[in-house]
Amino acid sequence: MKVNIKNEVKSYYGNIAKRVNSKSKNACGCGSDTTNNSKLYTKDFIQGLPDEVVNASLGCANPVVLANPQKGEVVLDLGSGGGIDVFISSKYVGETGKVYGLDMTDEMLKLANDNKEKIGVNNVQFIKGYIEDIPLNNETINVVTSNCVINLCESKEDALREAYRVLKKGGRLAIADVVMLKDIPESIKQSVEMWVGCIAGALPVKEYNRILAKIGFKDIEITPVNIYTKEIIEDIAKQKNLGDVYSKIDSDLVDGAFAGAHVKAYKL
Ligand SMILES: C[S@@+](CC[C@H](N)C(=O)[O-])C[C@H]1O[C@@H](n2cnc3c(N)ncnc32)[C@H](O)[C@@H]1O
Repeated sequence: MKVNIKNEVKSYYGNIAKRVNSKSKNACGCGSDTTNNSKLYTKDFIQGLPDEVVNASLGCANPVVLANPQKGEVVLDLGSGGGIDVFISSKYVGETGKVYGLDMTDEMLKLANDNKEKIGVNNVQFIKGYIEDIPLNNETINVVTSNCVINLCESKEDALREAYRVLKKGGRLAIADVVMLKDIPESIKQSVEMWVGCIAGALPVKEYNRILAKIGFKDIEITPVNIYTKEIIEDIAKQKNLGDVYSKIDSDLVDGAFAGAHVKAYKL
């Protein structure tokens, strides 16, 4: 894949943020309308959040339920987008805690800061940067969350190593991400559009585990929570104008090949 993936990802999510900013219908990033992003969160998590925040959700599962942030903790959300998981965590850490949201896309940061103003929270800060080069000091974070972002990175290892670096000893990684459950046709693997849609860049579970262990994470658990059926993948392909690519492949080969998963691990 010879294109600059980061620029493609920035441009794709920048356009989504602009559409949300201009109040037109939100397009899902990682999943599709059939994954129904508003259903990723049970009511208790999104209670009190404005519709603009909930509608800007582009994730693949709820990482905050896994993170279980406690009062006074410092949370970092990688690829924070419109900020949904940042705002949910901010309710749990309270005024003595803090939540950082890190994103590389200006339009997403604007959307997140507009949302912050609407909610009026003081314990939240959005910062611009790459998750492969986190602009925070070593061992300053209790819990790193992320929702459907690691799969977008070309070097997952760099991103996860950075997460490890900023975590305090005893800290935890609690992320939602798309993972690959079985091998897929080469045409999908080579598709940039399927990459920005969080499919082609997804890691096989075993490889995810291997990378986390190599970095030094302990007690690693990767649990698929939302399996993508062939209907969901077809819908994603259509939304990315990849109906042609999809029609040439045997849909049974991708049926259940991907899932939104919970990934938990500790820095001990
Ligand atoms: C699929 S969206 C998910 C947004 C948010 N986590 C959510 O659940 O709604 C991916 C986000 O990650 C950001 N992103 C992707 N790759 C990144 C990177 N390497 N560094 C920083 N941000 C990145 C994009 O700008 C986008 O806002």
